[in-house]
Amino acid sequence: MADLNILVTGAAGYIGGSVIAALLSENTQFPTKNLFAAVRTEEQVQSLQSLGVKALQLDLLNEQKVAEAVLQNEIDIVVHTAGSIDARLAAHLILALGKRREATGKDTYHIHSSVTTGYSKEGGWPYGTIKDGDPVYKMEKELNDGFPIRTTNTAVTELAKEQGVTNFIVGVPFVYGTGSGKWKKLSQNIPATVKASITLKAVYKFDQDSKFVAVHISDLAEFYVLMIKKILQGEKLPSGEEGYYFAVAHEVGWWDIAQSLAGALSARGLVTEPQARIWPSDDMAAEALDLPRQFVRLMHTARVTIDYNKRYPLGWEPKWDDQQKLLASMGEEVAATLQHDKGRTTLFDVLKTTN
Ligand SMILES: NC(=O)c1ccc[n+]([C@@H]2O[C@H](COP(=O)([O-])OP(=O)(O)OC[C@H]3O[C@@H](n4cnc5c(N)ncnc54)[C@H](OP(=O)(O)O)[C@@H]3O)[C@@H](O)[C@H]2O)c1
Repeated sequence: MADLNILVTGAAGYIGGSVIAALLSENTQFPTKNLFAAVRTEEQVQSLQSLGVKALQLDLLNEQKVAEAVLQNEIDIVVHTAGSIDARLAAHLILALGKRREATGKDTYHIHSSVTTGYSKEGGWPYGTIKDGDPVYKMEKELNDGFPIRTTNTAVTELAKEQGVTNFIVGVPFVYGTGSGKWKKLSQNIPATVKASITLKAVYKFDQDSKFVAVHISDLAEFYVLMIKKILQGEKLPSGEEGYYFAVAHEVGWWDIAQSLAGALSARGLVTEPQARIWPSDDMAAEALDLPRQFVRLMHTARVTIDYNKRYPLGWEPKWDDQQKLLASMGEEVAATLQHDKGRTTLFDVLKTTN
C-alpha cells in the first residue's frame, strides 16, 4: 500500500472523530505518523493529540492556514467531515491539495461528506429514485435550484476537476449510534429529540412520516476506511462527476423512531406517556430541537429516494443493515445522550451568516 498522509477535518466531531478511531484501530495499515486531525480549539488539539495522531488547530475558513497545513504536513488525502453546507471549507482544502499536486506531481484526493436528505420531493428533488452510479452530478447541475447541499456538491466537484484533485462525494444519510471519537460522540437528530423530549416531558413528531435512509456510525466510519484503503492500494475508483457514493445501510421512518423513543423515555420516567404527539407548529419544533426553522420539517419528514437495495458500494458490508436493530437500540441512544451531550451543534451556523 502507498505511504500517504491522511488529514481528517472535523476530527473533534461525531463523524470525523469516529473515522480517526476506525483508522487507528487498523494501525498496521494506518500508522499514526500518517494521520492528521484538523480541529478548532486548543482543548480539542490536546484531546486528539493524546491518541498519537498529529492534531492541527485550524479554522478551515482561513485559506492561507489551510494551504500551509496541507503543504507543510505533506497531506495526500483529505477526509472532509467539517461541513457539507459551506463550500468555502472544502474549496480551501481542494485548492491546497491542488498546490500540493502541482508541487510534487503526485495525485491528491478529497473525500467530501455530503447529506442525502435533499434527494426527496420534500427537498425539491424532481428526478425520483437514484442509486450509486447514476449521473447525480449532472442532475444536480441541471436542477441548479440553490439547495445549499447540492450547490456545494457541484462546486466542490468542479473545483476539484479544475485543480486536478481526485474528488469523491460521500452521500451521508441519517446517522445514529454512539461515535467512537475522542471528543464528540453524538449525532444530531436523535439526541436533539431526546433532549427536547426530556425538557417538554413528551416526544413530539411531525404530522407527516418520513422515509429516511440510514447508517450506524461504526458502519459509516468503516465506509470511509474502505475508500481510503482502495486509494492506498491504487484502485482507480469512479471520481469527479462520476464519484458520488451513497453510504446507505438501510431505511427507517421517523415515526417508528419517535415511537421507540417514547417507549424508552417513558420506561425511564423521562416523559409522561409512551406515545409520540404531533408538534403543534414548526416554530415550536425548531425552537425545541434547536434546528434551523427552514430545515426542521425537511429533516424529519423527507422521503428520501435513494435505492440502495443492499447493493452496497465498494464491497462495503454494514453490520447494522436493518431498521429493527436501530429501533431496539433506543435505550442506548437515550443513555448516550444523557452521558455524552456537549451542547448545541455548530453545523448550521453558516445558514445564519448566509441568510
Ligand atoms: N450526523 C449526521 O446524522 C449527519 C448526516 C448526514 C450528513 N452529515 C454531515 O456530515 C458532516 C459531519 O457531521 P457531524 O455529525 O460529524 O458534525 P459535528 O459533530 O458537528 O462535527 C463537525 C466538526 O467540524 C468542525 N468545524 C466546523 N466548522 C469548522 C471550521 N470552519 N474549521 C474547522 N473545523 C470546523 C466542528 O468544530 P466545533 O467542534 O468547534 O463545532 C465539529 O467538530 C456535516 O457536514 C453534516 O452535515 C451528518
